[in-house]
Amino acid sequence: MKKIIFISMLSAFTSILMANGASIYASKCASCHGAHGEKSALEKSKVIAGEDEGTLIKKIQGYKCGILNQYGMGGAMKNMVKGLDDSSIKEIANYISKLKQ
Ligand code: HEC
Repeated sequence: MKKIIFISMLSAFTSILMANGASIYASKCASCHGAHGEKSALEKSKVIAGEDEGTLIKKIQGYKCGILNQYGMGGAMKNMVKGLDDSSIKEIANYISKLKQ
């Protein structure tokens, strides 16, 4: 019984995390990267849908710190992610990694 309660709490918690990544993505990222991560942002970036979660976290952290600038538009991305904390970045990266191109 205890186990069942624990598992159902865990899955509720996971879906809250997922929902948060999805809602941040929809409100802050989709305008440039596409609703499903399928677009090249401002015709500069790669398509990000389905990229590996760890790589996404590194890139987003790099933009946040201002050390990543792959196509001359790193400053624009810095503004988009500078307000995100580590756990939000992880949630968004997890969400994007599960999108299909
Ligand atoms: C104003 C348009 C815009 C918005 C909004 C935006 N991005 Fe970007 N994104 C860009 C541009 C332009 C680049 C390319 C930056 C560069 O020169 O390195 C980029 C690059 C990226 C990359 C690296 C892609 C590659 O080619 O390796 C990731 C990952 C990314 N963005 C994630 C996000 C996330 C997550 C959000 C929302 C929190 C977001 N972006 C919001 C425009 C945007």
